[in-house]
Amino acid sequence: MTSARLLGRCCRLRSAPTASSSYRPCGADTAEYSENMSVDTSSTLADLVIEDSRRARVLEQFQLDYCCNGDRTLSEAAAAANVDLEEINTALDLPPETVRESTGSQERAALAHDIVDTHHAYMWEEMPRLQALVEKVHQVHGERHPELSTVHELFTEAVAALDPHMTKEERSVFPAISRLEKTGTPGTSGSLAEQVDLLMQEHTVVGDLFKEIRSVTAGYAVPEDGCASYRAMLDGLREMELDLHEHIHKENNILFPGALELERSAANG
Ligand SMILES: [Fe+2]
Ligand SMILES: [Fe+2]
Repeated sequence: MTSARLLGRCCRLRSAPTASSSYRPCGADTAEYSENMSVDTSSTLADLVIEDSRRARVLEQFQLDYCCNGDRTLSEAAAAANVDLEEINTALDLPPETVRESTGSQERAALAHDIVDTHHAYMWEEMPRLQALVEKVHQVHGERHPELSTVHELFTEAVAALDPHMTKEERSVFPAISRLEKTGTPGTSGSLAEQVDLLMQEHTVVGDLFKEIRSVTAGYAVPEDGCASYRAMLDGLREMELDLHEHIHKENNILFPGALELERSAANG
């Protein structure tokens, strides 16, 4: 199933546009469209990444949140962040020959498996390693770098939230989505919509914790007296934040909307 069918949206770019392409949104909101823009600026950030996952890295560079706040249009998000729309549009206009298949082309159950095999597996392995590193660096450098105490607190809070969150997804919500897709009948463990709503709230909390970690470390900048462990800790935190953005995007913007659509269809018989 394509992402368009998953989300029931139109106006998708089937491949990354070229500089000479002329795309027009099919909705009424054409005022935001500019002839000079090769990417549709009225597309949401989530849709832009669903169409081409490489755009996630571009949006990260401009610090535009495509996961928890992926429902904003490119022009809205750029205006809010004071980013030049033409500059980001050019950066998002990637060469078509290297376009990867979008994540949105997977079925829900397959996508849930993929999320567990990649993002959850990474987190289960990386969280304890990074937790030990954060503790060590805090102990050794905490006196000269008081912000490490905040990093330690924030990261500990993030791990404490992510552990039960991912367990709930793996043991309850993802199996319920697979069952729903297989049988077409709603499960007996309560409304999927309520569970999804809670999971999305938890995503926002964890996303904000990492945003704070990025802020107190000045964008993961290694201080002049930072040792190899200090650098490894900051590299690990940066990588984890980037991975979390992709992870949350796949759940918030692809898997969950698709699952809720299935639940609505099942409820309507
Ligand atoms: Fe997850
Ligand atoms: Fe999640």
